[in-house]
Amino acid sequence: MKVLLVNVSPHKQGNTFTALNEIAKQLQLNGVDAEIMWVGTKPVRSCIACNQCRVKGLGRCVFDDDICNLVSEKMASSDAFIIGSPVYYGQPSGAALSLMQRLFYSAGGLFQNKPAASVAVCRRGGASAAFQTMNIAFQMMNMPVVSSQYWNIAYGREAGEAALDVEGMQTMRTLANNMAFLLKKIHADGQPDYPEREKWNPMSFIR
Ligand SMILES: Cc1cc2nc3c(=O)[nH]c(=O)nc-3n(C[C@H](O)[C@H](O)[C@H](O)COP(=O)(O)O)c2cc1C
Repeated sequence: MKVLLVNVSPHKQGNTFTALNEIAKQLQLNGVDAEIMWVGTKPVRSCIACNQCRVKGLGRCVFDDDICNLVSEKMASSDAFIIGSPVYYGQPSGAALSLMQRLFYSAGGLFQNKPAASVAVCRRGGASAAFQTMNIAFQMMNMPVVSSQYWNIAYGREAGEAALDVEGMQTMRTLANNMAFLLKKIHADGQPDYPEREKWNPMSFIR
């Protein structure tokens, strides 16, 4: 079993990484593999609603010049997904939102049914709003959202300061324990037996 963790901070080893790394280490202690991908400093495009990923059944985004398709490729061999974002103006970073929207729209099938969690890291405020914003996307992807003893939030300003947030780091380890617990239940019989879905029945307000 493997969890893919994506660090959407432009700081490779900043506070978001510190929080994700605490989760990764604890997952490994639970016998679950963990890989942290870093978004880098190049811009992450936002979705332009060209619909080509769906019309052509590409299963990937038409834009191949940022991390999006690299994440979805990794997700094909991952059993769970965690995204960590710094808080920017009380919300996830623009990169975090753009990435999730493009991933889920272009390669949603790779995420369906797989447990998910988000982590928000801030200096002082806005983390709970950012956390909720990220989680709401999982809830329309049939992704079980894994919880912890508190919202998955850590505090810090300079790179690595989040390690001093004792409760925040404990929250990350508890999240990892809960993720490992759920993954082991889902995979107890080998291949997961995901529920069958009804054919989508979209509502239209247009008459
Ligand atoms: C553009 C920008 C906006 C920010 N907005 C907030 C904010 O609304 N609330 C807050 O507490 N910190 C804010 N911060 C601080 C970062 O969230 C904080 O330093 C965080 O630890 C950075 O994580 P990183 O080291 O992983 O990049 C902001 C930082 C930047 C660059």
